[in-house]
Amino acid sequence: MDKFKIKGGVPLSGELPVSGSKNAALPALAACLLTEEPVTLRRVPQVKDIATMVSLLTYSGAKADRQGGQIRVEARVLDRPEAPYDVVKTMRASSLVLGPLVARTGRARVSMPGGCAIGSRPINLHVSALEQLGAKIEQTHGYIDALAPEGLQGARIHFDRITVTGTEDLLMAAVLAHGETVIGNAAREPEVEDLADLLIAMGAKIEGAGTSTITVQGVERLHGAEHTIIPDRIEAGTFLLAAAITKGNLVVSGCDPDHISALIVKMRQAGVEITEAGSGGLRVKGPAFRARATDMTTEEYPGFATDLQAQYMAWMTVAQGISFITETIFENRFMHVQELARMGANIRIEGRQAIVAGEEGLTGAEVIASDLRGSASLVLAALIAKGESTVDRVYHIDRGYEGVEKKLAAAGARIKRVT
Ligand code: EPU
Repeated sequence: MDKFKIKGGVPLSGELPVSGSKNAALPALAACLLTEEPVTLRRVPQVKDIATMVSLLTYSGAKADRQGGQIRVEARVLDRPEAPYDVVKTMRASSLVLGPLVARTGRARVSMPGGCAIGSRPINLHVSALEQLGAKIEQTHGYIDALAPEGLQGARIHFDRITVTGTEDLLMAAVLAHGETVIGNAAREPEVEDLADLLIAMGAKIEGAGTSTITVQGVERLHGAEHTIIPDRIEAGTFLLAAAITKGNLVVSGCDPDHISALIVKMRQAGVEITEAGSGGLRVKGPAFRARATDMTTEEYPGFATDLQAQYMAWMTVAQGISFITETIFENRFMHVQELARMGANIRIEGRQAIVAGEEGLTGAEVIASDLRGSASLVLAALIAKGESTVDRVYHIDRGYEGVEKKLAAAGARIKRVT
């Protein structure tokens, strides 16, 4: 298992380029199942989760051809509309193929995702939404079997709680359903809007993506298209925090600043200077002294992203004062806390809140990554910890960050991968 060895203490400088969004590319790949014509996606990040999704598409019968950041998928025949356990267990977003498979082929068989480190993460809302479109769904032997031999029927659906991939799954099913579907309490994340843009380019009729009500007029069939994936806002946010925590001065390039406004506001409150640097670039200059402790609560978009909570917390462990960090999206997303504590962080958990008392500094230690974003927070902490740190099980970080150690090293970090 790969590890990172990191020697802390270097302020980052230069440029950190942002890759395409993992969480936008995953549903975009699933959407390729909706047409027999080829779909070409650009700026797809080369990370493990994308490889997993591609393997799911090919398992179903699609052909996928990858060249660097470009993937061309042709789902002419889907003779095995299934997502097996072996694949689903490594990536919960596999449930994204449920909607498109049943909409396109009239049947789908998808392994039920089990629990996951950050929370129980059920997919009951995906299932219920598809049932409301007329799919007959059975859950047995750990699999969800969905049937809609006559096709799906548009309906008015209101999500009990906001779900990102649930909204995406339903959207992909609704585009080929008969008649109109109205999705209420839809997720407003930029990834949902990006998926809608791709589907529209494929011939779908969708209005309101990016708001909490999405209206879809079903069409008979979709056609091929070409689409460029939006920049990864979580990677961009992680890099802004890397600059801040190391008191560095660098440009995060190729991002969409509008997608990380909630983070930028918090970082400015805490004393960081962030200015625009050309189109899609942000110059970030960490405070010369320590940042001010600043409270934060995660929320659905456009609130502060739960996917940046762990990295933000790493920064607050060395801020001046006490900060209250509240996680409202997932019930168990504090696994990084005990590892940060091994580096000298002073954090107490009370239910959904972490109370972080800022320390003068951290010390290098051996730590273990437990989930994707948690592992990014350990890397950030190691970048400023005194001495050397070893971050074990970096396969978590490889699931979602493209060449992270190379990018950080190019900005001056002393980080190397040990295999
Ligand atoms: N939920 C249910 N039932 C459902 C679906 C969700 O109870 O059927 C609950 C979840 O357990 C959670 C809340 O609703 O408490 C919100 O979960 P959501 O469905 O929005 O999460 P997701 O769609 O499974 C996506 C991202 C996550 C990100 C969350 C929240 C992808 C592939 N994944 O997950 O990204 O944390 O939205 O923004 O888009 C990551 O990239 O590290 C990651 C975990």
